[in-house]
Amino acid sequence: MRLAIFGTGYVGLVTGACLADVGHQVLCVDVDADKIARLNAGEIPIHEPGLDEVVARNVEIGTLKFTTDIAGAVSHGQVQMVAVGTPPDESGAADLQYVLAVAESIGKAMDRRKIVVVKSTVPVGTSDKVRVRLAEVLAARGSSLEFDVVSNPEFLKEGAAVNDFLKPDRIIVGTATEHAREVMKELYEPFNRNHDRTIYMDVRSAELTKYAANAMLATKISFINEIANLAERLGADIEEVRRGIGADPRIGYHFIYPGLGYGGSCFPKDVQALVRTAIDIGYDAPLIAAVEAVNNRQKTTSFDKMASHFGGAPGLKGKRIAIWGLAFKPNTDDMREAPSRVLIEALWSAGATVVAYDPVAMNETARIYGERDDLILAKDKYAALDGADALAICTEWQQFRAPDFDEMAERLATKLIFDGRNIYAPDRLSRDGWTYISVGRAPVYPQLEAVEKVS
Ligand code: UDX
Repeated sequence: MRLAIFGTGYVGLVTGACLADVGHQVLCVDVDADKIARLNAGEIPIHEPGLDEVVARNVEIGTLKFTTDIAGAVSHGQVQMVAVGTPPDESGAADLQYVLAVAESIGKAMDRRKIVVVKSTVPVGTSDKVRVRLAEVLAARGSSLEFDVVSNPEFLKEGAAVNDFLKPDRIIVGTATEHAREVMKELYEPFNRNHDRTIYMDVRSAELTKYAANAMLATKISFINEIANLAERLGADIEEVRRGIGADPRIGYHFIYPGLGYGGSCFPKDVQALVRTAIDIGYDAPLIAAVEAVNNRQKTTSFDKMASHFGGAPGLKGKRIAIWGLAFKPNTDDMREAPSRVLIEALWSAGATVVAYDPVAMNETARIYGERDDLILAKDKYAALDGADALAICTEWQQFRAPDFDEMAERLATKLIFDGRNIYAPDRLSRDGWTYISVGRAPVYPQLEAVEKVS
């Protein structure tokens, strides 16, 4: 099948590469000429495991091509997929200008019946807006060409996007016509050979499914973080509680890890957009609004604990704080809405110097913050510790899980760890003379000191 994908961002690129990989003829189009030139030169603009190989092998055999020629892309195939960005505007609502601009382009250049597939995450009702805009453009041309608008949201996790696309839990397809449904069936047929994972529904339900999925997952995280905060104050251990509740299969063990709050390009944006949608239709949705409020508060907890340890924020003035993990989660260099940023910026406000290390997000950190005296980019995780007054862990990268604690102790000025991801066992650290402050668990102190405190 031949198809065009508008937008070579994270979603468009992964989608294009994976659809090409199963044999479709994919033409990816973007208005950013520089990006297209880089893609044509084999340069992948994002860090996503496995993506470079999938792109390279499909470019080589000619199943995947990149262009800036919009009209050419419109004539390339029956399926026109929209994967452009929907950044939040000042009110938190998704900005639809790029999606509607693609609808216009398709309307202007279309020469036969097309299926317009909305892949971008868009508020409920957007596919209807796309339909109206396209119909207007066709009417202005005096054209009576037919078209269908399909909602086909993505469920890709950064860091695992290629695998998520190639082995999906489900494929959501919202259609209004039998014709569109048949075309979508053919498009996704390679992913459904063993068993059909596609769930067909009406367009609005498909649009809402995406928001509901992300809001539900975000709710799990805010819920466990809320309980973690209670556990800290009640003398309970959130890791025990997590195991205890997860044993009930209705709750489950997945995706209820306490931490510094969710970040990334999806959860914060989509939860905000859903809150906005509710406001727009005059419906009070307190649960979803609370999910966001709890998350915003959670992102400040690491700084609050640090400040409290050093006798208040002024106590952090002149301190040198090492940070391990800058990306919003492991296996990505994405720092959008990352909790590390909230901590770093609060430390700067308090007059501390930050020595930062992340296995892949160093360039991104430099890009975001530029050069400044109170930011040092360390060359590896141990170098970040040299002379630091404390270590804060913001992202649970695999390489932080079993470090050489002796080397850490030698390099740090103080054996003090603030762990925002609960990756170490408190008992062990306290036995080895560390002060260890994590999430939803009592802080631990060096064992001798702890004994002294009790006596
Ligand atoms: C998410 C959804 O999982 C995906 O289906 C959707 O299409 C896009 O949004 P992603 O943003 O890549 O994907 O990240 P995800 O792995 O879901 O993690 C989101 C955030 O939640 C991260 O900041 C992570 O650290 C945090 N998180 C996740 C927790 O704090 N605890 C958990 O138990 C799980």
